[in-house]
Amino acid sequence: MRILTSARDLAQFSSGVFVPTMGALHEGHFALVRDARRRADLARAPVVVSVFVNPTQFNDPKDLDRYPRTLGADAAGCQRAGADALYAPHVQDIYPPNEPVPVPPLPPVATQPGLEDAHRPGHFAGVVQVVSRLFSLVRPRAAIFGEKDWQQLRVIAAMSATLHPDIDIVPGPTVREPDGLAMSSRNVFLSPDDRAIARALSAALRAAQSEPTPTAAEDRMRRILLDAPVASIEYAVVRDAETLARPDPARPARALIAARVGAVRLIDNAPWPGESRRPGWTG
Ligand code: PAF
Repeated sequence: MRILTSARDLAQFSSGVFVPTMGALHEGHFALVRDARRRADLARAPVVVSVFVNPTQFNDPKDLDRYPRTLGADAAGCQRAGADALYAPHVQDIYPPNEPVPVPPLPPVATQPGLEDAHRPGHFAGVVQVVSRLFSLVRPRAAIFGEKDWQQLRVIAAMSATLHPDIDIVPGPTVREPDGLAMSSRNVFLSPDDRAIARALSAALRAAQSEPTPTAAEDRMRRILLDAPVASIEYAVVRDAETLARPDPARPARALIAARVGAVRLIDNAPWPGESRRPGWTG
């Protein structure tokens, strides 16, 4: 595996399968890289992983400063998972001082749902800016994004359909700890007590899957989170899986949660309803 810092060296790795990340990689990311390897092998294409802590998507500068940086371990894990190149650019390569990088127009799913868009103002503008820039530099045939950041996945799919229609956006399933907690680079900040409370997010999503209506599912999630007790609930909702608007019985839906556990903000989501209740719901 090659470690690249200059965009010039990326040319030989174009038309591959791309896994964009901010580093601090865990098993959830390495599962995406292994999936990229399988897909790339079918097309005899390379696998490129990027590690770039993108300053424009952080709304809190303290969050940017304390974001874990673990490039050595990230590189070793990517090599084991089958990457051909790890692209770890400097800020000035992504945002050259004299060359403004455009922010693509935000699709409705980035501004209307009142979920991450409401709780992290400006976040999706930074995400589409950096992802579009990385797509132009890496020039992949496909890019894989984790389902844990469900609204981000929908935002990138919508942005890409307009601006990078030749790139397939591939969802990667969430990888969970044995007790159900979704893997996240932020889990390292949980104290042992908060780590136990954090299980409530996946437990609430699972319980919601057997409720008969979105309203009942939302009530059930809130009760479980309050009993845990999480420090605060930002949202616990059931929405249309693609647009994140109010759910429609004829279309796939998704249950989504954001909550603070101690000082750590966690998000998670799951299909709604669960397999046993499909297909359809009313009310
Ligand atoms: O999900 C992430 O790690 C980041 O938001 C992404 C997509 C790599 C853009 O910086």
